Amino acid sequence: MIFSGKVISLEAIGRAHLLKPRSRNPGMALLTRARRLLVRAGGALYARLARPTPEERRHQAAVHRRWEAAYRATPASLLPWEREGPEPELVRVVRARRLPRGSAVLDVACGQGRDAVWLASQGYRATGLDISETALARARERARAAGVRARFVRGNAWRLYFRPGSFSLVNDRGGFHHIPEDHRREYVEGLARVLRPRGLLLVQAFSARNPWRGNTFTRAELVGHFAPRFEALEGREVLHREAVTREPVYLWSVLFRRRG
Ligand SMILES: C[S@@+](CC[C@H](N)C(=O)[O-])C[C@H]1O[C@@H](n2cnc3c(N)ncnc32)[C@H](O)[C@@H]1O
Repeated sequence: MIFSGKVISLEAIGRAHLLKPRSRNPGMALLTRARRLLVRAGGALYARLARPTPEERRHQAAVHRRWEAAYRATPASLLPWEREGPEPELVRVVRARRLPRGSAVLDVACGQGRDAVWLASQGYRATGLDISETALARARERARAAGVRARFVRGNAWRLYFRPGSFSLVNDRGGFHHIPEDHRREYVEGLARVLRPRGLLLVQAFSARNPWRGNTFTRAELVGHFAPRFEALEGREVLHREAVTREPVYLWSVLFRRRG
């Protein structure tokens, strides 16, 4: 990956920052502050270095147009991936792993915010990121209606600009399988960078059991895409029924932990 050297060194700065305990000693406090500034500068530097080329910008714009058109054309409850209530796999993982309240969590490709709003309602500091502003407007409305605070930001999932080590958990339901093939590696690197060391990542992506091809995976293929930066802790195939048509769609649900 073009930026891998830079990303790794920024990540190392972030890790040093996260692992150091706070100190009352003024000298140490100064050092901690300097380290924190370095992390911030690191985030800004990454954002500058990772600025997209004109060709990439055109590509991102095309992806944005496609999703924005889909959201604008379809009422919230009729989108095929919508469902009542939070994603059961996410609920199961959060409960089983006893993720501490107050942890920062990211719902990447959050769509209309169903899972981010649920995470916020459970006491987590939830951020949802999506490329479509219409989806995000609906997500913000959902948070307001539920009376919870969640942050929703527009961005490109394969170009994450959060500071290194920002999150304890990332939820990706239906994001990865829409990332263009030539950006998958960048996507995985980005998630590893914004997760803290040994942070959790729940991915749900189209299974090869579905009848179409192109963005479906066997379990081994899916795990293989994430393997350079993540170890798989558990995985199972889950069934989703599309809103309206009730057509079955199979997804691999794999829980990963960031290596090191
Ligand atoms: C199948 S929907 C899933 C939405 C949500 N996770 C859910 O389960 O309801 C896929 C989402 O990915 C978003 N998306 C697609 N490509 C993206 C990208 N490059 N960056 C950010 N979001 C993206 C779309 O706007 C859409 O909201």
